[in-house]
Amino acid sequence: MNSPAMQGLAINAPGHVKNAKLVAWVADMAALCKPESIYWCDGSQEEYDRLCAQLVGAGTFKKLNEAKRPNSFLACSDPSDVARVEDRTYICSVSKESAGPTNNWMAPDEMRATLNPLFDGCMKGRTMYVVPFSMGPLGSPIAHIGIELSDSPYVAVNMRIMTRMGKAVYDVLGVNGEFVPCVHTVGAPLAAGQADVSWPCNKTKYIVHYPETREIWSYGSGYGGNALLGKKCFALRIASNMGRDEGWLAEHMLILGVTNPQGKKYHVAAAFPSACGKTNFAMLIPPAGFEGWSVTTIGDDIAWIKPQADGTLRAINPEAGYFGVAPGTNTLTNPNCMASLNENVIFTNVALTDDGDVWWEGMGDAPAHAIDWQGKDWTPAIAKETGAKAAHPNARFTVAAANNPALDPEWDNPAGVKIDAFIFGGRRSTTVPLVTEARNWTEGVYMAATMGSETTAAAFGQQGVVRRDPFAMLPFMGYNMSDYFQHWLNLGKKLEASGAKLPGIYCVNWFRKGEDGKFVWPGYGENMRVLKWMIDRIEGKANKGTEHAIGTSPSYEELNWTGLDFTAEQFKTVTSIDTAAWLAELKLHDELFTQLAYHLPAELTATKAQIEKRLAA
Ligand code: OXD
Ligand code: MN
Repeated sequence: MNSPAMQGLAINAPGHVKNAKLVAWVADMAALCKPESIYWCDGSQEEYDRLCAQLVGAGTFKKLNEAKRPNSFLACSDPSDVARVEDRTYICSVSKESAGPTNNWMAPDEMRATLNPLFDGCMKGRTMYVVPFSMGPLGSPIAHIGIELSDSPYVAVNMRIMTRMGKAVYDVLGVNGEFVPCVHTVGAPLAAGQADVSWPCNKTKYIVHYPETREIWSYGSGYGGNALLGKKCFALRIASNMGRDEGWLAEHMLILGVTNPQGKKYHVAAAFPSACGKTNFAMLIPPAGFEGWSVTTIGDDIAWIKPQADGTLRAINPEAGYFGVAPGTNTLTNPNCMASLNENVIFTNVALTDDGDVWWEGMGDAPAHAIDWQGKDWTPAIAKETGAKAAHPNARFTVAAANNPALDPEWDNPAGVKIDAFIFGGRRSTTVPLVTEARNWTEGVYMAATMGSETTAAAFGQQGVVRRDPFAMLPFMGYNMSDYFQHWLNLGKKLEASGAKLPGIYCVNWFRKGEDGKFVWPGYGENMRVLKWMIDRIEGKANKGTEHAIGTSPSYEELNWTGLDFTAEQFKTVTSIDTAAWLAELKLHDELFTQLAYHLPAELTATKAQIEKRLAA
């Protein structure tokens, strides 16, 4: 490898960067990627403003109307670069079994031999940004540090919102501290004098994780989880490996606080697959009938959860912002989210209105005219005629957690918050009841391991097919899924042994449909009714629920119905257990277990046998 000195490229690490391993790694990567220059981000507001202005100059950003959406920008991506690329995402562990049957795998040496020529000179003509970030509150015993090298200023500014990014990270890193090296390139080197495009990317894409060496290499995409490497790549795929080795959990979970009228507070971590309304649940506003209750957000997507000496679990949100899906978000589905988007936002792939603001499907009244996410004229008449969307269905906002009016005061507490309950949920139009409490930890792990969700057209092309998504981790699991189930079971045993009360585990489904094909449960804020039933159960209130084949569900009388007209008949539609449907469901669990047979914990097959027995009784 050429040394940077040979290329004449100065690394110029600032004086506050004292970590020799980091400086050497930056030098090695610079020698490989051959950027024109290196810029060490400090995370300041001045730097953010400067980079945003630079992105406006490059045509990547459009500045939105300052009066309507202060300090906010719109980026429109290349039409080929609009979402995570699961089929291009690899877990390159030394052995194939370690990656497991749910991941793409290539031997590390083979992958390095594939990537090295691609990365050689990949940043020519561009700046390499050195982005220091902490996943979790700076210095928290649950947090970890990453350094992302990227040739995308869009990534640098998004990372400032999504993580604790900046100079202070180096104080925590110190001389010998550990960091996860993350290297990202859009894969579009510029020849001398070559003009850039507004969204550089490459049609070849690789999102690669080396679990043993804790490295991330991302090539060819500038978008979301492919490029903002702190999120799915580090906080889930690499961190799940760290968690397995060190005895903690990295989960695809929101974290919320719920406080009752007496001021007693509980914390709930909830896993839902993509496109199931996680951000809405994390920002829920209690409806009429719940005066004195409040729900506050700790995180909307990822939780790092560590067992404590007293047998409790404490969780942090490793992120510092929300990279949420815009379409469908409005003042009814998520008022707190809409309020979060008033200023200091980066929008990606939404539509631009004639008055310099943004619009997306499901936001409210359509504008008479807009420029769609691909830069074309859009009107309601065009949409009717051609089906053209103003915003891409996976259009996003990037916004700091601090913008959220319902932000929990403890969200940045380095000690995290104590978890009282776990919720697992998917999008199921039939079969799965509104809410079920697991009778014990193993039954809860079974529920989570076998959860499934119906695909939405936007995400996977084919609508309504149930995709098994264990723990909502299918696209984010960094090692063998069955070993991960075992890790959860082991953790439960460890907590039990300490004598602590384990968090309750619940399975929910907001999406059951009636015979007319319409959703029966109103969802959104009304989910508070279900949340309160869980809190009652945790508090040991009289509510006994009704036990059935797969767990315990509430009877109609146990939910607070004040302020909502929801009949016992409707309740039956969303809670009934259909034996034939469950027997068919268990066949699908069988298929999953056959796929995951290697290292599948015997406790899970035993739990399945118990459910079968109860259904047969
Ligand atoms: C996300 C996802 O973007 O889960 O959070 O896909
Ligand atoms: Mn997610």
